[in-house]
Amino acid sequence: MTDTGRVGVLGCGLMGSGIAQVAAAAGYETIVRDVSQEIWERARGGIEKSLAKLVEKGKLAATDRDAALKRLAFTTTTGDLKDCDIVLEAVTEDLVLKNALWSELDRLCGPRTIFASNTSSLTIAAMAAATRRADRVVGLHFFNPVPLMQLVEVVRTVTTSEETFGRAFAFAKSLGKEPVAAKDSSGFIVNLLLVPYLLDAIRAVERGVGSVPDVDKAMQLGCGHPMGPLTLLDFVGLDTTYRIAEIMFTEYRETRYAPPPLLKRMVLAGMTGRKSGKGFYDYSVNPPRVADLGL
Ligand code: 3HC
Repeated sequence: MTDTGRVGVLGCGLMGSGIAQVAAAAGYETIVRDVSQEIWERARGGIEKSLAKLVEKGKLAATDRDAALKRLAFTTTTGDLKDCDIVLEAVTEDLVLKNALWSELDRLCGPRTIFASNTSSLTIAAMAAATRRADRVVGLHFFNPVPLMQLVEVVRTVTTSEETFGRAFAFAKSLGKEPVAAKDSSGFIVNLLLVPYLLDAIRAVERGVGSVPDVDKAMQLGCGHPMGPLTLLDFVGLDTTYRIAEIMFTEYRETRYAPPPLLKRMVLAGMTGRKSGKGFYDYSVNPPRVADLGL
C-alpha cells in the first residue's frame, strides 16, 4: 500500500475490470464506474472467476479473495469517484469520451487526486489539456490479462510533475506490478514494437507466406512467444487493435502502422476475436479451429 487510499476506475471492460481486481486485491477500496448494471454484473462475474482461479492455483488465500470482493463497489455515477486519491481510466479509445469524463471529474475531485489513463495509443498530453490539473495527469498502461501480466508502463507527459510520476510509479508497484518509465509517444514502448509485429503477421497471412496456424506455430516455437501473433490478436481484440493501429498511423504516418485490409474486413464482419466467438480462429468449437477468412 502507498499513501493512496481510495481508487476509482472508469470503465469495466476487459482492462478496467482487471485493474479494479488488482487494486482491490492489493488492499485498496475500489469504486468502478460504468454505464449500466448489466456491464458491472458481467465484470463482477469475470473478477470472481479470475480470483477463484488464483485461489485454485494457491496464489491467493480464500479469505483474501473474499476481502478483495468486499472492497469492490460499482456505480453509474461518475461523481461517486470524487473522493478517490487516484482515478484510472480504461474506457474505449475515444479521446472525446475520455476528455468528457476527465473534465467532469476535474470539477469534482480535490487537488490531491491524480488522473491516470490506461490508453494504449492516445497521447496523455491531450487528456491533461482537458483538465486544470495537467501536472497530475499520467499514463498507467496495463497489459491483458491484467491479473497475470507483470508490466505497467508509467507514462510521463510534458506537464506531469515529478511528484505525480512518483506516486503513480509507487502505486503500480503496490499492486505487485513491475513498472517501467515511458515517454508520452503514441504506443509508448510495448505497442510501438508490438503493433507493427501483429500487423505484419496479418500481412503474412494475406500474402500467403504461411497459414494462420503455421504463422502462430512459427513464432511460438521459433521465438519462444507464449502465444502466436494471430492468437494474440484474437485475445486482445481485432477491433481494439484496429483502433490502436489507426491512431498510431495518424500520429506517425508510417505504413508499418497502417491497418491491413484483411483486419478491416474482419472487424466489419464482426470477427473481433475471442470476445465475439470468432476471429482468426472459431471459438464455438473446442478446441478452436481456424476460421474461414475468405482468402
Ligand atoms: N485471471 C486468473 N487466471 C487466469 C486469467 C485471469 N485473468 N487468464 C488466464 N488465467 C489462467 C488460466 O485459466 C490458466 O489456468 P489453468 O492452467 O488452470 O488452465 C492459466 O492462467 C494459464 O493460462 P493458459 O493455460 O491459457 O496458458 P498460458 O501459460 O499461455 O498463460 C497467458 C496465459 C499468461 C495469457 C500467456 O499465454 C501469455 O502471456 N500470453 C501473451 C499475453 C500478452 O502478450 N498480453 C499483452 C497483450 S498487449 C496488451 O495488453 C496491450 C494493449 O494495449 C493492446
